[in-house]
Amino acid sequence: MSVTWALPFKEKIIPEVGKERAVDPEEYRRIHAESLKDIESFWANVAKELEWFKPWDKVLVADPQPPFYKWFVGGRLNASYLTLDRNVKGGRKNKVAIIWEGEPVDQSGNPLEVRKLTYYDLWREVNRLAYVLKNKFGLKKGDTIGIYMPMIPELPIAMLAAARLGVIFTVVFSGFTAQALADRLNDAEAKLLITADGGYRRGRVIRLKDVVDKALEQSPTVKNVIVYRRVGLNDVNMVRGRDYWWHEVMADVPPNVYVEPEPVESEHPLYILYTSGTTGKPKGIVHDTGGYMVLLHATMKWVFDAREDDIHFCTADIGWVTGHSYIVFGPLLEGMTTIMFEGALDYPNPDRWWAIAERYGATILYTTPTGIRTLMRFGDEWVKKHDLSTIRLMHSVGEPINPEAWRWLWKLVGRERVPFGSTWWMTETGGILISHVPGLALVPLKPGTNGPPLPGVDADVVDDNGNPVPPGTRGYLVIKKPWPGMLLTIWKDPDRYVKTYWSKFPGMFYAGDYAVKDEDGYFWILGRADEVIKVAGHRLGTYELESALIQHPAVAEAAVVGVPDPVKGEVPVAYVVLRQGYQPSEELKRELNNTVRELVGPIATLANVFFVTKLPKTRSGKIMRRLVKAVVTGQPLGDVTTLEDEASVEEVKRAYEEFKAEIEKLKGQQ
Ligand code: PRX
Repeated sequence: MSVTWALPFKEKIIPEVGKERAVDPEEYRRIHAESLKDIESFWANVAKELEWFKPWDKVLVADPQPPFYKWFVGGRLNASYLTLDRNVKGGRKNKVAIIWEGEPVDQSGNPLEVRKLTYYDLWREVNRLAYVLKNKFGLKKGDTIGIYMPMIPELPIAMLAAARLGVIFTVVFSGFTAQALADRLNDAEAKLLITADGGYRRGRVIRLKDVVDKALEQSPTVKNVIVYRRVGLNDVNMVRGRDYWWHEVMADVPPNVYVEPEPVESEHPLYILYTSGTTGKPKGIVHDTGGYMVLLHATMKWVFDAREDDIHFCTADIGWVTGHSYIVFGPLLEGMTTIMFEGALDYPNPDRWWAIAERYGATILYTTPTGIRTLMRFGDEWVKKHDLSTIRLMHSVGEPINPEAWRWLWKLVGRERVPFGSTWWMTETGGILISHVPGLALVPLKPGTNGPPLPGVDADVVDDNGNPVPPGTRGYLVIKKPWPGMLLTIWKDPDRYVKTYWSKFPGMFYAGDYAVKDEDGYFWILGRADEVIKVAGHRLGTYELESALIQHPAVAEAAVVGVPDPVKGEVPVAYVVLRQGYQPSEELKRELNNTVRELVGPIATLANVFFVTKLPKTRSGKIMRRLVKAVVTGQPLGDVTTLEDEASVEEVKRAYEEFKAEIEKLKGQQ
């Protein structure tokens, strides 16, 4: 069934900044079509701009067969060398690589801790840690380690030290629970874990090492732990023979020690990053080294227009892919100065990001729609207090951006003159694939759009049969040719890799998103087409939340769906069938929510729990979340021919109506 889509906004804007590169969409389409004629030589030309220890023999190989693609086969390189040594040798030795600001502030709101690490400082620390990993802990190329740290410079230091040795790392977001950490460490078979005693979040200390201790009860592969003293807690449990303080193991290392960067094969995994899917446990997305570096180099140039004097401010957390690619590897690869902020965007006040941007003269801002919508609510004054005139380029990421949020940032921070796009990509793609490319050519901006696909990226929107849909028609986003930076596979689960991404439309990468192309060839990514929801830009599988709910003894069955939220984009609500002997109550709702928060993490907090006696199911017993979602979002039910029992939908409706009536009553009482 084709759905035509009324695009929310038709206005076209050529921003003042960068207008010398303005091209019309027609011209851009020509550039793009040209790049697709021979993607191998196109990407090889980009790859030549990096430094390879050994050049590749073949640009692209399907091995053993599609969709297992390998880029720049035969080539050897090292990500730590490219981001550090190359800059240290290339005239940036004393240039600041990382500006880090800790969360705590003094009484006037000024940061208590700022660290600026030059490329040489960073190089030195990375070498020292690599020395420890290699000589004290015996780690070698191909081993895996976990990293569970707050946003402090030691986090990228750990990533780069691992990369130096060819050790595959997996960063676990420090907001994740012990269970989530243990699952990831086990799947990755991590031999060692690098963590900290704690971190700061909205003025509170988060005791990370306690979480680690709990996780390690279930993670037998982890033999050693390195603990960085971030907070200075004096009651940290250190297990003899297993746990080591960072400062103690580093104390004996000579300050200028040099560890030879391992010349890894282009397809050697740089990292694994776990992300949610529609079924089962989180998927370990595996990224290579060569293709990933090439895509980051291209996107830093085209999308961010990287320049020598840039101060790059990406507001993400390194625990997610955005931080991997656009706080750590991308900016450092280009020899830029990258800002890292430890804490919450509204601590101590909702101008923290603006204060940081002003303090360090940020030139590029890479942020999220949820961040923007959160700050919008506090009013314009918090932005106006700051001089943000250094900012010359902005992009957002992670979820569709609504035109209101776009306009707000464009006006207040972008002064109605700087390019501002919404870059589409995913953990799986490694880097940005659909975006405005002001560093290359500037097509007119349209609030809410993602812009055209990057050169070398063959994106399209197709119908249920895999045929391209006409402009203005909703379909599924696909990528029709491999691209450098693409995931290699799912860690230890190649079948799932094929099934998840390459089976819906054979020969095409299925992203799982709904999209529309407009008459200019711009893409508008509308949201997920599967049972994944995006809460404040974070990706959650409804299945994960349901699995957590049914661990509670009261729950027989559960269906979780995402519903629109004005700030977070989407929030999860649960429909729950109770086991016999349990009664619905507010207390039970709270308990169920706590279960989800404990097992999945605070980002998974349920916005509501509804109790019903049955859920809509197919005749084969599969829960029809689609129908539940249609009820709560007030959409037509669509095809219900496979529904087993229509009364179940009525129940879902009734629970929802009662809830709405309750809210109205409360409003009336106010
Ligand atoms: O639904 C799309 C949405 O985020 C998903 C990928 O999530 P994740 O792997 O966590 O990566 C997020 C950061 C790269 C996509 O399938 N998404 C990402 N960027 C956009 C977006 N939706 C609309 N517009 C975007 N700019």
